[in-house]
Amino acid sequence: MPVEIIATSDAELRRAAEILASGGLVAFPTETVYGLGGDAWNTRALARIFEAKRRPAFDPLIVHIAALAALDDVADLGALVPEARKAACDLMEEFWPGPLTLILPKRPRVPDLATSGLPTVAVRLPNHPVARALIELSTGAVAAPSANPFGYLSPTRAEHVAAQLGDRVDLIVDGGRCPVGVESTVVDVTGPAPRVLRPGGLSLERLRGAAPGFEVLDRTDPAPKAPGQLANHYAPRLALRLTPAGGLASARPEGRAAALVFDAASRDRLGSAAGRFAEVRVLSEAGDPVEAAANLFDLLHDLDSGDCEELWAERVPEAGLGAAVNDRLYKASKKT
Ligand code: TXA
Ligand code: MG
Repeated sequence: MPVEIIATSDAELRRAAEILASGGLVAFPTETVYGLGGDAWNTRALARIFEAKRRPAFDPLIVHIAALAALDDVADLGALVPEARKAACDLMEEFWPGPLTLILPKRPRVPDLATSGLPTVAVRLPNHPVARALIELSTGAVAAPSANPFGYLSPTRAEHVAAQLGDRVDLIVDGGRCPVGVESTVVDVTGPAPRVLRPGGLSLERLRGAAPGFEVLDRTDPAPKAPGQLANHYAPRLALRLTPAGGLASARPEGRAAALVFDAASRDRLGSAAGRFAEVRVLSEAGDPVEAAANLFDLLHDLDSGDCEELWAERVPEAGLGAAVNDRLYKASKKT
């Protein structure tokens, strides 16, 4: 039987919340990407999340809350040194609700399955009315990784979830397209200085504007702390080749290939090389990194289910959400 997809009326969200509260799995929209939600307090639901995604148990989940009042149930800010506590509170004040996930000391009652046995827990207060209503109506804490099979592209539409996870999820709440389009920025405040473990929907510039002195984890780190750092992640089915900016002009695709470029100017720079590609797609005609991020997974899903045999992309400018776009392109690419 195909998975049921529902809309976002009060009655429908109440039903989705009941499924969550009774240990079921519900995929739901957030401002970043669709999440595969399960009750954070229910170890059976957590185990089902890992099983549905075929996700290794060493990759911990993000616990989503709908109100600051729920934070204390999940995380123990008192276990942070005063400077770290201040940094955490400043970040929450400035950026929650929003595409920021904070790594915080965990409360003992948070199941080890949610945190893969780590003493810390990832917490996020999303800025999406459907996500917030659903969390509020269920148990107040919903563990949710992106609703894709492990290692595959994150979903930005309900149809992506249905195509990828099918009946491994009990219900999908269709809230339309996710406006931000890339996952949250993950910041660890439990160390000596706040550290960005994964660039995402909140730009590094905005983070640094609020609290200077951020470290950014090197994605070539041999012992990644956030498995979002794994080199092959967010990958499409088709081989994706990533070149430096401007590199597609000298690309020599072997089969029927699609090119993904940043803006109208980068398409123009392809010149006669455009003829070597079956299609050329543009992330943002006007060169807006926010729009490019919003379109990224959408375009990749689309190309991946089309009739091209290869994908070629070039790096986009690093400014703003460009850093998150480049991170996802890098992780999706073949490292040869
Ligand atoms: O935007 C998002 O963050 C989406 C939506 C659904 O909220 N969720 C998401 O979840 O991207 P997921 O599971 O795909 O990515 C969570 C990331 C992973 O890279 C994981 O390793 C990291 O957060 N993470 C979770 N708990 C952690 C912890 N205690 N310490 C370090 N990293 C952690
Ligand atoms: Mg993910």
